[in-house]
Amino acid sequence: MTAKLTALQHRPADLIAERMPQHVAVIMDGNGRWAKQRGLPRIMGHKRGVDTLKLLLRCCNDWGIGALTAYAFSTENWGRPEEEVEFLMVLFERVLRRELAELMAENVRIRFVGNLAVLPASLQQEIERSMVDTAQNTGVQFTVATNYGGRQEIVQACRAIAHQVKQGNLEPEEVNDALFERHLYTQGLADPDLLIRTSGEMRISNFLLWQLAYAEMYITDTFWPDFDHEEFHRALVNYQQRHRRFGKL
Ligand code: FPP
Repeated sequence: MTAKLTALQHRPADLIAERMPQHVAVIMDGNGRWAKQRGLPRIMGHKRGVDTLKLLLRCCNDWGIGALTAYAFSTENWGRPEEEVEFLMVLFERVLRRELAELMAENVRIRFVGNLAVLPASLQQEIERSMVDTAQNTGVQFTVATNYGGRQEIVQACRAIAHQVKQGNLEPEEVNDALFERHLYTQGLADPDLLIRTSGEMRISNFLLWQLAYAEMYITDTFWPDFDHEEFHRALVNYQQRHRRFGKL
């Protein structure tokens, strides 16, 4: 993979610098099916999925994409077999511990969004450490949605706003898009321009429900572990051919 990575460095010539998405969001689907196809346990698919994520972070850095957000664990994923959930929690922790130095070297700023308070304590510690250590970095803003649900995010924002109104610190008329956004987990992060979902599923699956309002969607049949820089390049070429109207003519 290293040889492939060194070859990345420059943005492919057919991508127009001014039309690069500034924020790409990914639903990393198909890890389990990738593993099954090869007669491997599902967890091997998740392990390989981490490599894809690292590759995309590198592409973002090299090609001028400011932010990448990945859906690592949804609020619904607790319903998976216990050993898979446990494996994922350990994997997140291990990846953070193992990759933190490299994330620093690559100038990546990491942030976790979701209901983090119910995650294993040792994982919460690694999450906190990674966010604090990388807070001053100026490269790609990498957001990891963990125990994340779009509806839950909206509900907790509503609750926080309702409290302020109840306490008399806010008038209902002052509630608008900008104020609402400041109460979301992603506060301060521009909305994604492009959403990529792998493995052919055509669903949003409770991901960034508010933030994806005007995102362009790119869906590929490729399983997440097989999604590579060439596929990412194809998705970006496709994105650059779109005419974004934001509801206007
Ligand atoms: C979906 O595939 C994938 C996941 C639920 C987990 C993705 C997590 C990673 C790749 C690790 C990321 C790590 C960090 C620290 C950010 P699936 O299991 O639903 O696949 P299937 O649809 O084929 O069953």
